[in-house]
This record gives sequence, C-alpha cells and structure tokens, in this order.
Amino acid sequence: MRAIVAVDDKWGIGKDGKLLFSVPADMKFFKEKTTGKVVVMGSKTLKSFPGGLPLKNRTNIVFTSGVPAQGCLTVRNLAELFALLKSYDDNDVFIIGGGMFYKTMLPYCSGALVTKIEADGEADVFFENLDRASGWKCVAEGDTVISGGYRMKFTEYENSDVKKF
Ligand SMILES: NC(=O)c1ccc[n+]([C@@H]2O[C@H](COP(=O)([O-])OP(=O)(O)OC[C@H]3O[C@@H](n4cnc5c(N)ncnc54)[C@H](OP(=O)(O)O)[C@@H]3O)[C@@H](O)[C@H]2O)c1
Repeated sequence: MRAIVAVDDKWGIGKDGKLLFSVPADMKFFKEKTTGKVVVMGSKTLKSFPGGLPLKNRTNIVFTSGVPAQGCLTVRNLAELFALLKSYDDNDVFIIGGGMFYKTMLPYCSGALVTKIEADGEADVFFENLDRASGWKCVAEGDTVISGGYRMKFTEYENSDVKKF
C-alpha cells in the first residue's frame, strides 16, 4: 500500500478544501498510477472531487462516519478498513488523501509517490515532511519537468518501518 500525493515547497497539499495547483502532468501521472486500482480517501477529499463523485475506473473506498457515499465502498473505522483491504493486492492500493487521512495511514504504507511542485501554495493542510520522518527515505527522484507553468519532480519514498494491520 502506498500514498500518492502532490506537495509544494512546504509539503502543503491543500487550501480551502481544494488542491493547491492544477498541474496536467501530475494529473496524468495520478491517473496512470491509479486506474484499475483501489483508491482510499477521507470524506473531505471525496467532497473535493467534481460533483463529489468517485473517481472513474477505480475502486473507491471512503473513510467516513457520515452517510455511505454513492459509487464508493464506505468504511467507518480502521478495523473495517483493514478487513476490507485484505481483499486486495497490497500493491494495488493507494492512499489518496487528504491531510487527516494521510496522517492516519502513513505508518501502514510501504511507500509514497510524491510529486514535488516548486511553489508555495499557502496551504492550510499539509503532508508529513518525509525527509524528516523516521523510517522514510527518498529512493527515486526524476528530472525537473514543467507543466501548467510549474517546475516539478516525481519522487518516490520508501518506509523501512511499516506498521502491520
Ligand atoms: N495534494 C494532494 O495530493 C491532495 C490529495 C488529496 C487531498 N488533498 C487536499 O486535502 C484537503 C482535504 O484534507 P482533510 O485533511 O481536510 O480531509 P480528508 O483527510 O480528506 O477527510 C477528513 C475526513 O475523513 C474522515 N477521516 C479521515 N481520517 C480519519 C480518522 N483518522 N479518524 C476519523 N475520521 C477520519 C472523517 O470523515 P467524517 O467527518 O465524514 O467522519 C474526516 O472528517 C483538501 O484541500 C484536498 O484538496 C490534496
């Protein structure tokens, strides 16, 4: 199970319930990685999608104490989530946000695909700074590319201290 996230210079990920930037190359990357796979998210991230609808061509799992979301599998607590995740290949599961849900799930992730965007989006929601997180290390860093007017890099981190569920 891996997290997939786009961060700014300060590991910011969102503001006012929305993404910080619209970066076509990152959207393409996210789609390529997650299509046909399982995406798991907090309820606020689902609400941030167009029409609050699940992502197409993926199994969408939502963590919420609220009402079940249409077109998604809904889990209400971690025990329910972990039981459900046992039905999927671990390599096919992506934690896709947001801040609160990443924080809950990061210890259980074996890796993270981190798109680094060279900008300060003045975020109000942040991802953990993996360069300072114990057990995490950057194992791959792509070249700088430019998309949507932003300089960005695709990087990959691994967690050597994965918590079992
Ligand atoms: N840059 C990126 O890659 C990226 C990716 C995804 C999201 N985002 C951004 O992140 C922001 C949303 O993040 P967020 O932190 O506000 O919300 P979130 O994590 O998407 O959702 C929070 C909600 O999910 C449920 N939840 C998640 N973790 C839980 C836990 N440990 N215990 C209990 N309930 C839990 C609760 O739902 P209920 O209240 O329904 O019970 C909680 O209110 C937005 O700005 C979004 O655009 C950025």
